[in-house]
Amino acid sequence: MDRFVIEGGKRLSGVVEISGAKNSALPIIAASILTDKRVIIENVPDVMDVHTMIQLVEYLGSVVKFKRNILEIYTPKIKRIIAPYNIVRKMRASYYVLGALIAREKKAKVSLPGGCAIGPRPVDLHIKGIKALGCDVDIEQGYIVAKSKKLKGVEINLQGAKGTSVGATINVMLAATGAEGVTTINFAACEPEVVDVANFLKKLGIEIEGAGTNQIKITGGNCSCSEEVRYRIIPDRIETGTFAVASAITMGDVEIKNCEPHHLTAVIDKLRETGAVIEVKDKEIIVRGNRPINPTDIFVAPYPGFPTDMQAQFMALLSLASGTSTIKETIFENRFMQAVELSRMGANITLEGDTAVIKGVKSLSGTYVMASDLRASACLVLAGLAAKGKTYVRRIYHLDRGYEKFEKKLRKLGARIRREKE
Ligand code: UD1
Repeated sequence: MDRFVIEGGKRLSGVVEISGAKNSALPIIAASILTDKRVIIENVPDVMDVHTMIQLVEYLGSVVKFKRNILEIYTPKIKRIIAPYNIVRKMRASYYVLGALIAREKKAKVSLPGGCAIGPRPVDLHIKGIKALGCDVDIEQGYIVAKSKKLKGVEINLQGAKGTSVGATINVMLAATGAEGVTTINFAACEPEVVDVANFLKKLGIEIEGAGTNQIKITGGNCSCSEEVRYRIIPDRIETGTFAVASAITMGDVEIKNCEPHHLTAVIDKLRETGAVIEVKDKEIIVRGNRPINPTDIFVAPYPGFPTDMQAQFMALLSLASGTSTIKETIFENRFMQAVELSRMGANITLEGDTAVIKGVKSLSGTYVMASDLRASACLVLAGLAAKGKTYVRRIYHLDRGYEKFEKKLRKLGARIRREKE
């Protein structure tokens, strides 16, 4: 297993280029199997989750080439309709092939993903949506088995116990492309990645309206594109936010290029509240860190609210604030795994149900810490960059799932970070 060794205390400065959004790439790869035409996707991040999704569509019958962030997918024929447990267990987002297979083949068998480190993660809304479209759905030996003679467009309400669902919205959008007539999704998620998938579907020739709002309408029918399709994925807003915090926490001066600042307004607002000086340009953000770091209160909410995928990174920053901050996590039940590890570095954090109370300390000190999930790993790296002494972040395979060349990009900004085998 690999780990990072970080020598903290170095101010970051320079330019960093943001990669394509992992959370767009995964459903767009799945959506590529809707067509028998060649699909070329640009700006695909070279991260483990993308490789897992490639492995899955190859298993289903796609021919894939992936080089220098350009992915070519060609699926003249679906050979299998099964997403096996040994792939789905590595990455929950494998469930996106459910919607795509139903649309193209009218049947699918997809392993149930189960829970994960950040808490229980049900798929009831995905199942509700595809049933509404006219699929018979059974759970057999840990698999969702769905089949239908004919899919029919309907009005579907995807409001869940925790609000909207990115995954269910996209999965139902994909399935609805194979239905007869119009499907209306109410309480649709508005995240930029949902819009990105919708824009890709438009390229395939599918009629789709309202993505980015709480109501999306999809007119079913086969993909009408007549030749190869080319699409470029949006920049990763969470990677952008992570580098913004990296600059703030190290009192750095970092120019973040190739990003989409208007996808990050909630994050930029909060960062400004903590005292960072931020200049926003067209596709670029410049972040200058400052001291003292002002405490603040964060309320996590679906887009355009403050993203759950950014709260762990802010927890590292707020650990060094000049007073007490709170983070209320409303989306996932168990997403403060980083708090215990940060405390081992000297942070003062108490958890009260869905709220973390962070009393700022003067400094953090390096030690051995363990990454538990993707964003918690990023939090520990950021803490290590600001800490005194050496921090060893173990189990960074979590981080490799979603950040492209993370340590290389940080090193280019002057960070002292290296990867080594344990
Ligand atoms: C996606 C992102 C993840 C991000 C999350 C929330 C990908 C690959 N992952 O995950 O990084 O943290 O959005 O922005 O894009 N829920 C149900 N029933 C369902 C589905 C979801 O109750 O059928 C609940 C979830 O448990 C959670 C909430 O709805 O409490 C939101 O989850 P959802 O938006 O679906 O997250 P993912 O799509 O899995």
